[in-house]
Parts: sequence; C-alpha cells; structure tokens
Amino acid sequence: MTTSHARVLLHPGYTVGPVDRRVFGSFVEHLGRAVYTGIYEPDHATADEHGFRRDVADLTRELGATMLRYPGGNFVSNYVWEDAVGPVEDRKPFIDLAWRTIEPNTVGTDEFLQWAEREGIEPMMAVNLGTRGVAEAAALLEYCNGEAGSRWADLRIANGREKPYGVKLWCLGNEMDGPWQIGHKDAHEYGKLAAEAGKAMKLVDPSIELVVCGSSSMDMDTFGEWEQTVLGYTYDLVDHISMHAYYEEHSGDRASFLGSGTSMDRFIRRVVASADAVGARRRSDKKITISFDEWNVWYLQTRFEGEANIPLRPAPARIIEDVYSGLDAVVVGDLMVTLLNHADRVPVACLAQLVNVIAPIMTEPGGEAWRQPTFHPFATTARLAQGTALDLRVDSPTTTTARHGEVPTVTAASTWDEESGAFALFLTNRTAEPVEVTVDHTGLSVVLAGGYRMVADHEPAVEGPEHAAKVAAGCWSELEAPVPSPAAGTTPSLTVTLAPESWTAWHGTAQRA
Ligand code: AHR
Repeated sequence: MTTSHARVLLHPGYTVGPVDRRVFGSFVEHLGRAVYTGIYEPDHATADEHGFRRDVADLTRELGATMLRYPGGNFVSNYVWEDAVGPVEDRKPFIDLAWRTIEPNTVGTDEFLQWAEREGIEPMMAVNLGTRGVAEAAALLEYCNGEAGSRWADLRIANGREKPYGVKLWCLGNEMDGPWQIGHKDAHEYGKLAAEAGKAMKLVDPSIELVVCGSSSMDMDTFGEWEQTVLGYTYDLVDHISMHAYYEEHSGDRASFLGSGTSMDRFIRRVVASADAVGARRRSDKKITISFDEWNVWYLQTRFEGEANIPLRPAPARIIEDVYSGLDAVVVGDLMVTLLNHADRVPVACLAQLVNVIAPIMTEPGGEAWRQPTFHPFATTARLAQGTALDLRVDSPTTTTARHGEVPTVTAASTWDEESGAFALFLTNRTAEPVEVTVDHTGLSVVLAGGYRMVADHEPAVEGPEHAAKVAAGCWSELEAPVPSPAAGTTPSLTVTLAPESWTAWHGTAQRA
C-alpha cells in the first residue's frame, strides 16, 4: 500500500482572525434530561445547595464550554418565562408543545443564570418569537439586565437577585423557518417581528448583541431566500445570523459522513455570501457574523421518532439521548477544524447540546456522569486553540463522496497565540488509508510538545459509561511529539503520519522565525 501525501503551509503573516472564545459554546434546552437529572438534580449525592449536580458542572468545566445557550431550541417558542420566576412553590407546570413534556418550571431564568455565573460560563438567552412577541422579549431583557426602578427589573430584585445579570447575547427566537416550530412564520412575518423585537430590546439595553434566525439547515427549501429576506428587515439592527446543522451517517456511507466538515464549510460560505449580498445592496460596510448556535452529530433521520410521535410525559423524559462512537468523535473534531477556519465570520457556536440530549456528557439519575467519545475532541480543541487562527494552504488528495461530491482527504486548522507562544495544529484524515502530511511552517519556529488522537471505530455505539470508557480506551490516545527535522526547535517543516479515519491535535509553542 502506498501512503498518500498532503502538504500544509502556514505562515504567521497569514491569519484568518482571532478565535473568539464563544465559539466553544454549548446548549442547555428544556428538552429531555438536559435540565432535570442533567445539570439539575437536587437529590443527587453531588448536588450543591442550589440543587445542581457538581459532577456535571465539573465535566462542563473540563469540556471547556465557554458559553451556554438557554432555554431553547424549539422549547423557547412556547415558553412563558414569567411562569418560571419567583417562589418555586407558586410556579405552575405547563405542557411544552415542542417536546410534548410537562415542564415543572422548577428551573427558570434565575436558577439557570445563577448556575452559569457560579460556573463562570457566559449565558446566551433566547426569546420566544413563536407564541409571543415584542413586549415579552423586551420584558425578559429588562428582567435580566435592568437596573432597579422599573417593573421587570424590580421583580428580579424582589425575587432575590439585586445585581443585573448583564446577559450580552440574545437570540431572536429559534428556527422560525421550520414548520415544526410552534408559531412558525414565513420570512417576511418573522423578519418584521424580529426587527421590532430587536429594536425594542436594544432600547432596553443597547449593549446587547442580537442573533437573528437563519435557516434550520442548508436543506430547507427556503434556504438563501430566507437569509436575504430576514436580513433585509434586520441588517442594521442585528449582529449575527444563526446557522444550525446536524450530521449523521446515512446507510453506512462513512465517506460522506467523514466529509461532513466540507458540507459545513460550504454552508458557512453560502450564508456569508447571502449576508454580504444584503450588505452590498445596502452599500453597507457592516459585516454580519454567524452564530452557529446548534451543531453536532445527531442521528435525526435514523434514530429520532419525530416530535409528533413523542408520548406526552412529565419531565424528565428520555428524548434523543444519542450514544456516540469513535467515528462520530472524529467527525466532531473535523467540524471544529471547519469552525476554526472561519474564525473571522463565526465568533459564536454551540455544540448542541451539553448533557444527555445529543450530548458530550451523559448522566444516570442518582448515578454517575460520564464523557461520551465526542467529549474529547471538543475539550481538546477548546483548550488548545488559543490566539489567532492561521490562514493555511492545504494541498490534499480528494475523495469522492455520494452526498458532498469531491472532498479533501486531509483537513487542517492551526492557531497561534503570539503573546504566550501557544501553538496548535489540528488535522483530520477522512480516508481509510494513512496519510503522510508535511507541514511547512516557514516564518514560524515550532516546537511541538505532544498530541492527542481520536481514531474511528467500526462498532455500533452502545449506551452507558462502560461502553464510553471502552471507546475512549480504544480510540483516544495521547501522542509523543514527532521528531523534528532537520534541526530541533527551528525546523521549517515537520512531517506526521495520520492514522486512517482519525483526528489529531498537536500542541506546542511557536515564535516568529
Ligand atoms: O437541539 C435539538 C433541537 O434541534 C432544537 O430544539 C432545535 O432548535 C433543533 O431543531
């Protein structure tokens, strides 16, 4: 077998842009067991005085999630936030129509925001533009960020929280293009409502950043047209447009699944082009950036029963608790390569979701919490990707896939923090053969300290901590730094061999040469 070759060229003079820490966000929705028996379980042995699980909070920190989106998702489109603040004993349960679950309202805005604050995680809030509108969105913002002396801020203070939360990032609804969304709207209806809600919200607190809903996926019939129409109403007001994308392996088509990062890359380029076209028409210098606030591997077509088929149950119900394999983890790592390569236009992203629901962290009620295989590439990237994303040139063989056509075999991203010297290089090999990669780093003197690798497996993923540990033992490993050539510490190039179907992260230090 001949090993194929790829070449990566990096230079400190060519950069994509600073890596915004908010790109390592995740998502907590009132869905399934994300909240109840996920982050919150007062009877759990590790629960803190507020009822939140310490073991889950510790894993959240280890994951490196910098930001959390809340409270949905589809859930937000029928949420009455006022019913989930104030004395818990006075709160009434309601039927969440999005996930057909009786939501007890035990955890609401204050509980979530205070938990996030204690854990040092930035919150990202969404307002209901499905069944509600301008007044309720402005009121929720006032409740969260207002100073004493007005109705909703005073209610927060009466509920025991004096200091405003200062929530910076706000989603104007969720997936409003989707017919499944409660209160779904066409692009004109939504664009007008988002513009009015956003206008009111910026009058309450001009310091916030707003995210307008883009398409729920690139496969939506309205994709493109939706972005253009909605931004036509909101361009001057909003900061970001949302993108959502979930990937899965269809009928054993590994090649297409491993090429998911290319699909994500095309999706980002198309949304950027759509947004820039609206800006160009307006002769505007403003650039709308992307909040990729839902992305992950989700076996949506193959494992999910569909919202309408979910039996009506009290929370917490087990919904979309996908279990992941080493293959899924390689794809997650590669999707993060794509996000880093768009650091200039994607400052915000959320791995959907954090715990139990298509999540890197799983729990058993009353039992343990553990890492899924997808935990490892996320946590490693969040930890190692510091500073600025370098603008790489990757010369790679290609593979033909059924779903995405030609995709590069090797993908790469690299980050460098000039101040601390921290350097990282992320590489994916999407084929079943090893690939030798030569990295030319003229202009940067690189010393690698070591690495981490996830290799794909061929086993179906199985539920439970034992299986997750087995996958980690078989697929996840720490690597010694490759021997530099020709002279230690000042090599203009280095060569690494990528294992078949693998994702690798190298870390070390670098200085300008
Ligand atoms: O993350 C699960 C669901 O996927 C979210 O509620 C929704 O926004 C998307 O369709």
